[in-house]
Amino acid sequence: MAAKHLVWAAACFMLSLTAVSALQAVNGRIKLTIGTASGCTDTMRFVQNQLTEAYSLYGQFLDVEFVPWGRTVWNSTGFHCQFLENDCWANRLHRCVLDRLKGNQDAQVHYMTCEFSSPYPAFAQGTYICAQAVGVNLIDIDHCVNNPGDALDTAAQSAAVVPMQAINFVPYIMFNDVPDIPLHDSAFSRLASMICFALSEDPSTGITSCTI
Ligand SMILES: *[C@@H]1O[C@H](CO)[C@@H](O)[C@H](O)[C@H]1NC(C)=O
Repeated sequence: MAAKHLVWAAACFMLSLTAVSALQAVNGRIKLTIGTASGCTDTMRFVQNQLTEAYSLYGQFLDVEFVPWGRTVWNSTGFHCQFLENDCWANRLHRCVLDRLKGNQDAQVHYMTCEFSSPYPAFAQGTYICAQAVGVNLIDIDHCVNNPGDALDTAAQSAAVVPMQAINFVPYIMFNDVPDIPLHDSAFSRLASMICFALSEDPSTGITSCTI
């Protein structure tokens, strides 16, 4: 009887491991989409504790996309953000700066890392310090931030719909454009390891020796 239970326990454990290790590289690359909100402490924690390490180790194999939208509602009375006015303003700033950094992923990640690290310059202090640090034109950025309602907003709004419905968490973490709750959950505690294992299955990446 006890042995039978053990077998079942082992089978369940294997199944859950299989589900969690389902991340796969596509032609040696992984697309990582992160739905963020500027005032969200879980986003801050994810960027600091997971993204920074994973990107420094495997950034060359990643296509990173940030969607600074969170749970924003945009209707006839304007933008309504989970962490109120500052969140709306900072999320819009993030969209503006990321747009101006298109094609320079290292700078995009560097910029978002700055915004999600203490003292949280855009959200908590209302400053352009991180934008300035990454070298964008502040006059252009100021104009962008103060003229919401354009294609940057519609793009972020529509990008967030499917993953937010499926995952319903900020930040949402999505791999290769497919929302998957177990992968999202696992990214919170072991992003770098997941990426390592997925890359190691493709010998062309040269990645080996991954640890759980
Ligand atoms: C707009 O969205 C906000 C936040 O969800 C809500 O409180 C408000 O009633 C909405 N207004 C309209 C006109 O739909």
